[in-house]
Amino acid sequence: MTRLPTEFPDFGLTPEQRREAVRGHYYEWPGMDGSSGEIWCYSDRFSYRPGETVVLHVSSTAPQFGIVVIRDGGSETKVFEKTGLSARWQETPDQCSVEGCGWEASFEFRIGNDWPSGAYRVTLSAEGRDGSPIHSHHLFLVAPLPGKKPGRLLQVAATGTWLAYNTWGGSNHYQGITGPNRDQYATMVSTQRPWCRGFVVLPKEAPRVPLEVAVPPKTVPRYPHMEWAFATGHSKKYASSGWASYDSHFFRFAERAGYQIDIASQHELHFSPEILDGYDCVAFVGHDEYWTWEMRDAVDNYVERGGRAARFAGNFMWQTRLEDEGRRQVCYKYRARAEDPAYRGGDVTRATNSWEAPEIGRPGSATFGLNATRGVYAGWGGCAPRGVRGFPVYRPEHWAFAGTGIYYGDLLGADSHVYGYEVDGLDFEIRGGLPYPTATSGAPDGLQVLAVGMASQVEESADIPIEDQFLTDEDGRFTAETLFGEASDANLDKVKRGDGMIVNFPRGKGEVFHAGSCEWVAGLLRQDAMVERVTKNVLDRYLGRDKKGE
Ligand SMILES: [Fe+2]
Repeated sequence: MTRLPTEFPDFGLTPEQRREAVRGHYYEWPGMDGSSGEIWCYSDRFSYRPGETVVLHVSSTAPQFGIVVIRDGGSETKVFEKTGLSARWQETPDQCSVEGCGWEASFEFRIGNDWPSGAYRVTLSAEGRDGSPIHSHHLFLVAPLPGKKPGRLLQVAATGTWLAYNTWGGSNHYQGITGPNRDQYATMVSTQRPWCRGFVVLPKEAPRVPLEVAVPPKTVPRYPHMEWAFATGHSKKYASSGWASYDSHFFRFAERAGYQIDIASQHELHFSPEILDGYDCVAFVGHDEYWTWEMRDAVDNYVERGGRAARFAGNFMWQTRLEDEGRRQVCYKYRARAEDPAYRGGDVTRATNSWEAPEIGRPGSATFGLNATRGVYAGWGGCAPRGVRGFPVYRPEHWAFAGTGIYYGDLLGADSHVYGYEVDGLDFEIRGGLPYPTATSGAPDGLQVLAVGMASQVEESADIPIEDQFLTDEDGRFTAETLFGEASDANLDKVKRGDGMIVNFPRGKGEVFHAGSCEWVAGLLRQDAMVERVTKNVLDRYLGRDKKGE
């Protein structure tokens, strides 16, 4: 194992800039690049089927632009190219993050019938005001046509989370320019805007959220990913969500490892749940935090009828609603009980609150075995910054670990740092050296806990002055209030110690495997042999490939 450095990486920022990188609200907006000029693009939808038409909405300071479309899989394939397209600068409403940009359509093209399902990167190029080239990137998905797909795997991209974190236009579900003082996060976000910088492509050196630093004692936390974002002009949230940081690593791994893989957005899950029926196995990966009721119905029904769900993802946290034919995502989050109309004469089970809010009556564990508020942060800030980097394994004899050579008490994926930065867990107890979910944990019947690590919902403050805390105890107090009605110290104490698990359970005629960590994909990105092997064990079993040749 390589030894970690004891100093944070430095990207040349002053202390004031470092503070702004973490505390500030900076985002992409039309006009931000001033004298160099800009080109921006979004498409009318996240995903299309073969034969359908992609409509690009472009705003550019240059009158002409060109596009190149590349399929971004195990290898990169150019599928389309066109130059000499006309563009103009289009007016953008101030609240475009919420309302959408409303730009006129600029260019359309048809998805070829022979374009395989996958993620397609659009690079737009034009001439800047000073004559030097300007670029931007967009991404759309090609979802599969209906029908039986024996032996094929379907990945559902975490597009609800992409949308929640997209900083373009100033507002997302975290920070924003809404409200009377233009300082509130948006409870509604639109799909009709470009992706922020770093969601589509990233250079290899872009830091991930979990720290690759052996943090010395009494050290004020630093956040290399946000410092790098600030220093290089990327989105503040590039490392929190998006194709480039998360979903792409699983998709590329699967193709390179020889799996036949298709991809769909969560919009298919919501509006066309029958898409799952063609597959023996459906995978969910990365940072996968925002789901609608209907999306959960789709997965629950699929598994009940015999489908296998493989989730290598963390942070199954919020219920959302889709409006305007899917062009608007609603999530009131921390303000739900005060502001969401679902609490004022609406259907409270559809409240856009934590899935564990008792009034919703549908904890996340009922679908994927684990809950977000029993887990959360690990490996960054003041939340277990020196904690385990891999999953501590308790049941090495389980089929998922076959061929890995892993033992009881070993860490799975420590070298590639798969454990963090948000994990999902359950209340549990240890008996005879083995973990079991407690009776009140909400675990589905037959759930086996294969691995458990520690996590924290509250930033430990002994060595960190309050003004230097970024995560604080805010999430812990919210969970305490959501679960127990009041954000008291006593209730905070009940929720602040979390965990992250790998679990497996049967459901109806199907089965669920869940490695509850956002960073599982880091093991695939960094080609960690043990993480790859576990991933293949799960996929092979769920696709019926392990039976071949027997
Ligand atoms: Fe999250």
